[in-house]
Amino acid sequence: MAVAKSAIDRLVHAASQARAHAYAPYSGFPVGAAVLADGRVYAAPNVENSSFPLSVCAERNAVAMAVAAGAHRIEAVAVVGGSGRPTPPCGGCRQVVAEFAPADAPVVYATPGGDAIATTVGALLPSAFGSADLKEAVPGSTG
Ligand code: THU
Repeated sequence: MAVAKSAIDRLVHAASQARAHAYAPYSGFPVGAAVLADGRVYAAPNVENSSFPLSVCAERNAVAMAVAAGAHRIEAVAVVGGSGRPTPPCGGCRQVVAEFAPADAPVVYATPGGDAIATTVGALLPSAFGSADLKEAVPGSTG
């Protein structure tokens, strides 16, 4: 079912609020993300670490919050970050979102100032690898 514009607006607002809690002292690049999952909003910021590779993107934190609450079906995603241009989800986050969202799920990424780009999970990650591919695996085969 299509996600109402009012729900998308709420999601962008939640992402923007989460961005205010970003822990991004190393990049200076705060990001907030929100997912609508099983009808509820889960929002989180990016959380960096002095051991840089351990930093976690806002999207992955928001997905983890949804899953921790038992919500496994992501219906829409919003990301707020950047200034000059809206922050698109990074490649790793696209894969993580695709684990829980159908290809036609809307994704909106926006600047704090309100410039926004609307797309879908499938457009951001075409031909995604997924759980169905693992079912092709033959035990003991090298491929
Ligand atoms: N970042 C996100 O939170 N989401 C993205 O999709 C792009 C990048 C964060 C990671 C890091 O804390 C900072 O932005 C700079 O890369």
